[in-house]
Amino acid sequence: MNKGNKLYEGKAKIIYETKDKNLVIQHFKDDATAFNNLKKAKVEGKGVLNNRISEHILTNLSQCGVKTHLVKRLNMREQLIKKAEIFPIEFIVRNIATGSLTKRLGIPDGTQLENPLLEYCYKKDELSDPLISKEHIYTFGWASKKEIEIIDNMTRRINDLLTGMFRAIGIKLVDFKLEYGKAWNKDTEMREIVLADEISPDTCRLWDAKTEKKLDKDRFRKDLGNIIQAYQEVARRLGIMPEETNISEVNFGKTIPIKFKKK
Ligand code: TMP
Ligand code: ASP
Repeated sequence: MNKGNKLYEGKAKIIYETKDKNLVIQHFKDDATAFNNLKKAKVEGKGVLNNRISEHILTNLSQCGVKTHLVKRLNMREQLIKKAEIFPIEFIVRNIATGSLTKRLGIPDGTQLENPLLEYCYKKDELSDPLISKEHIYTFGWASKKEIEIIDNMTRRINDLLTGMFRAIGIKLVDFKLEYGKAWNKDTEMREIVLADEISPDTCRLWDAKTEKKLDKDRFRKDLGNIIQAYQEVARRLGIMPEETNISEVNFGKTIPIKFKKK
């Protein structure tokens, strides 16, 4: 599949056109950002790992009947995906309280939530992706009631499937962020809601079930070190990386800070 013009560049990925108007290429960069771009670095090998991990997770979800944008992985850093019109909303699921929830509401870190908590954020970098309610979504027409009903159901099902997938490999799925879009289904000749973007240690909080060691982007956000080793551990446990691979031996995993401004 030939890569065409760049359509969009985000913080961690680039989207390229293809000859097919309904398909695009998603390229995973090594760039890591946190606190809405205030902290930025290149983490060598992150793009390769997230490409593999996200492919694995979306393929598994798709086998369980979840509609996703993924067509296939093309190479180490790229996937062929359906072109989707992305809802300007980040759909957050929380199983254990941590991160911005604990800061916002003073809930003790690590509190197990009785039921998964769904939150919505408006995708707008200039405003640091503010938390919104469903009423905001309907008032400003970011999605319809019917669409949110479908997405909420998909999100809860994805949470159930992923919680089980990670539990089986000794990992607690603490929280995560999903994005959805509308893409063309060539069989039904209709647009449908699909899971888009990526699911990886960049977009999830993953804690080792026994030690609660963080195996996700919090290692970067909180300067805990060994970012790549943690992502690699997730890939290994998911069975998508041979046991003997040691990323540090191939000079993979270096973190090169780009800038860090304190608020
Ligand atoms: P939060 O506790 O910072 O609100 O994050 C909740 C979850 O969403 C966590 O798994 C990290 C993920 N997330 C993203 O993937 N992208 C983002 O821009 C933010 C703020 C969070
Ligand atoms: N992705 C966001 C940023 O780039 C926030 C985060 O993941 O912590 O700043």
